[in-house]
Amino acid sequence: MRNIVINFMIVLLLAGCLLSAPGYAKVMKCTGVSTFSERQLTVIPKPMEMKVSGGHFALKAKTAIYAERGSPGVKTIANYLAEQLRPATGLSLVVLEGTGGSLPADSILLTTKSDDTKLGEEGYKLVVTENNIVLRAPRAAGLFYGVQTIQQLLPAEIESRKKIPGMTWTIPCVEIKDKPRFAWRGSLLDCCRQFMSVDFVKRYIDLLAYHKMNRFHWHLTEDQGWRIEIKKYPKLTEVGAWRGEGENIYGGYYTQEDVKDIVEYGKSRYVMVVPEIEMPGHSVAALAAYPELSCTGGPFKVKNSWGISKDVYCAGEDKVFEFLQDVLSEVVELFPAPYIHIGGDECPKDRWKQCPKCQARIKAEGLKDEHELQSYFIKRIERILLSKNRRLIGWDEILEGGLAPAATVQSWRGMNGAIAAVESGHDTIVSPTSHCYFDYPHSAEQMVSDSFPDWMGVLPLKKVYSFEPVPEGLTAEQERHILGGEGNIWTEHAPQELVDSRAYPRLTALAEVLWSPKGHRDWEDFSRRLQVHYQRLDIMDVDYFKPTPTK
Ligand code: ACM
Ligand code: ZN
Repeated sequence: MRNIVINFMIVLLLAGCLLSAPGYAKVMKCTGVSTFSERQLTVIPKPMEMKVSGGHFALKAKTAIYAERGSPGVKTIANYLAEQLRPATGLSLVVLEGTGGSLPADSILLTTKSDDTKLGEEGYKLVVTENNIVLRAPRAAGLFYGVQTIQQLLPAEIESRKKIPGMTWTIPCVEIKDKPRFAWRGSLLDCCRQFMSVDFVKRYIDLLAYHKMNRFHWHLTEDQGWRIEIKKYPKLTEVGAWRGEGENIYGGYYTQEDVKDIVEYGKSRYVMVVPEIEMPGHSVAALAAYPELSCTGGPFKVKNSWGISKDVYCAGEDKVFEFLQDVLSEVVELFPAPYIHIGGDECPKDRWKQCPKCQARIKAEGLKDEHELQSYFIKRIERILLSKNRRLIGWDEILEGGLAPAATVQSWRGMNGAIAAVESGHDTIVSPTSHCYFDYPHSAEQMVSDSFPDWMGVLPLKKVYSFEPVPEGLTAEQERHILGGEGNIWTEHAPQELVDSRAYPRLTALAEVLWSPKGHRDWEDFSRRLQVHYQRLDIMDVDYFKPTPTK
């Protein structure tokens, strides 16, 4: 009888082992001690180095989080960690300052006292033993990313905002050394074609941070809507933020208080918010408010259809530069980021060719043509930005007619813009349509079923994951000018409720491309980890697109 009971218990244990896969946190070594292998860790983006040993650290009611005294920003991150862990576990872990001395059992230490300066601005080292967890990083940002890793080492249920009873909250014993491959890991969200709520924008930032992304490129002005309050020019939002008529009027804008709130929120998540104020094209909403800034004098209506407008700011009119200087003066007060994106893409030259003022400017400045006039425009704006201690980013059209001296080029029409930029010693951010336009359909079936326009390419997850941000044949010096990349969500075909399913899991894949070492790229392994990541996104209510499995 005793043997039967023992055999029965063994069968139960074995069944437990099998049923709990792939959720590593519930995998029990059949001695009764939890153990983990690297295969069972599912952190995305994959850390640079990871060594797994037996055993685990378990969160308990008495677990204390220590923030090393005197380490700047550490207490805030320790509190953030406690807040992240509280809802699902129901544990209110105490946050204490210390400990420079020996670390008590059942504790988690966060410290910037790290002699491993090679970890850089964003790297961290995480050592989990059965007794305690030590997270070290030279900078607070590294601690923040270490906290994201801790969260992903816990069972997926940790993402729940409601208490999950009956769970054991274990973290595998592991030693992780991690830092990003690229400094610029971003995503553009177009809040012009579709207005997105402040809460939605904050959630978007949260999800970026969860994936160790650190740039939110906020597209704020367009033909179809001007979305940022500018005090000196109230009509920009009174007129420019609304399109359509009568019952069909559509729009919205962010007050300066909203903007400050979002910028602060980004800061708390180590996400730099970079505004994009479009010029000289994509400016019909501004022209509807102030038609005197155009070549023809208008009148204009905020565009209520998609496509590129021929009406753009007049490059011969000094009032335009005064206006933009005023706008940018308010923008730099709101955004502490060292960069301001000024668009520069898709500016038809039709009006400039016909405009006496633009033609007079070409003559007076000794310019060859309208492309050089665009270059004149961007260079003049760059001087304004540099005088305010800000650097200019523009889409790759800013290469045409001559690049502004300190400009960073965002390459979107393939990678040629990136190559030209680095060859002339400029920085670049890469987001080619081929791999980084997440407004494009995931599959040919979706293209048809959801009536995407024909010109959009299909962009499946595997292709995003295959993206290599550094073109072949660059010198080491040129390679250093590739700051990183962005995944772009244009929203002509993606109102707020569809943004999740455009962005995810493609941003998950891009996060790994931009963070993890190049040599770690492994589609099979990523796909395996993604299955657990999906559980996390499900719990977070992220309405991601689930691609049909491909080999
Ligand atoms: C762009 O997609 N027009 C930058
Ligand atoms: Zn003009």
